[in-house]
Parts: sequence; C-alpha cells; structure tokens
Amino acid sequence: MSDVAASLIDTSDMIQLHRVFRDALGAAAPLVGSVLADDVERAELVGSYYFNVLELLHAHHDGEDELVWPRLIERSPADADTIRRVAGQHEGVLTSLRTAQARLAGWRADPQVDSGAHLAAALATLGAELAVHLDEEERVILPIASQHMTAPEWGELPAHGMQHFGGDKIWLILGLIQEQMSVEQIANMESHMPPPVRDFWTGAGRAQFRAFIAELRS
Ligand SMILES: [Fe+2]
Ligand SMILES: [Fe+2]
Repeated sequence: MSDVAASLIDTSDMIQLHRVFRDALGAAAPLVGSVLADDVERAELVGSYYFNVLELLHAHHDGEDELVWPRLIERSPADADTIRRVAGQHEGVLTSLRTAQARLAGWRADPQVDSGAHLAAALATLGAELAVHLDEEERVILPIASQHMTAPEWGELPAHGMQHFGGDKIWLILGLIQEQMSVEQIANMESHMPPPVRDFWTGAGRAQFRAFIAELRS
C-alpha cells in the first residue's frame, strides 16, 4: 500500500448519515399523506419525525461549515474553487429547509389536507435540492476529505452534530443512523458512546426509537 493510500481516512459514515435525509425526504408524500385532516395525534408523530430530521440537517451542515470546508480549502488549494462551490450549495438548501420547517410547524399544529400537500411539496423540493448537493459531496468532496483530514478531525463531526442538534429526540436520530449501519458498526458506535449516553440508549432510548418508528411506519 502506498503512503497516500495508507493515510486515507474512512469517510463512509457521512454517506450513511446522508441516507437518513434521503430516506426521510423520499418518504414525505406517503408519510404526510397518511395523516387525515384533524388527526392531531398522528400529525404530531409524523411532524416530530420531520422536525427532528430537519434539525439534524441544520446541525450536519453547520458541522461541515465549521469543521470541513475551512480545512479542505487550506490543505487542498488546487480544489478550493470546487470546495467553495459545493459548500455554497448549503445556502440554497437552507432556503428550502426554512420553507419546509415553516410549513411543518403550521401543519403540525393544525393538520389539514391543503397544508399537508404544501408541506409534502416543500419536503420534496428540499429533497431534490439536497440530493444534488449530497451526490456531489459524496462524489467530489469525500475523496478530498479522505486525503486531507485526519481520522480524529473527521471524528469531531458526530460530537459536533450532537452538541448543536436543536431537536428534542436524540434517540430518534441515534436509531435512524443505526438503521443504516452494519451490526459491527453499531457495536463499535455503542462502545464509543460516553457511558451516560450508552446507559440512556440501551436502557430507554433504543426502546423509545423502536416504538416510535413502528408507529410511524404502520
Ligand atoms: Fe454531508
Ligand atoms: Fe453538505
């Protein structure tokens, strides 16, 4: 193995996280459509799911803005224009994200057919716009990051995301991410959790996630 290959870091965890967004936004029409007018209870369930996923997207992009782009631009100047262009896609996504969040809040409080259709459309628009960004980030940026960041630097991303997560169901996020992982990756993730987080997850969080997600997908 060459020195370069030997020093490449594994960035595939970001592809797994991106799948959480792709899956959630791809399911918007059937999930929002599964809520009948005035069914506040189910709107709360579906609404809470999207509220938390959209907050996760904010946190994910903030982490990249803070921890990834500046390092890559500095360390790989030849790619700076490309990195800035892909980084700049966050701004366009943010506009769609805010629109979706505003519609979500209105629909969650008062679920009606019209507001549900508007919400589903906003989530689909966000999903389409985000997919362009995620595709390019995976294809173009991750190979640059794998060469120019260290494993500990890359490992700052999940902790940063947790600290800046503005949602109210961290167990939902942990469960959604674990759904994308192999059994070995899940065991590794749990072995690296701080003890209070691991105790919470194994003692209560995992069961809360399973109950929530079964109800959501029923
Ligand atoms: Fe990303
Ligand atoms: Fe991104």
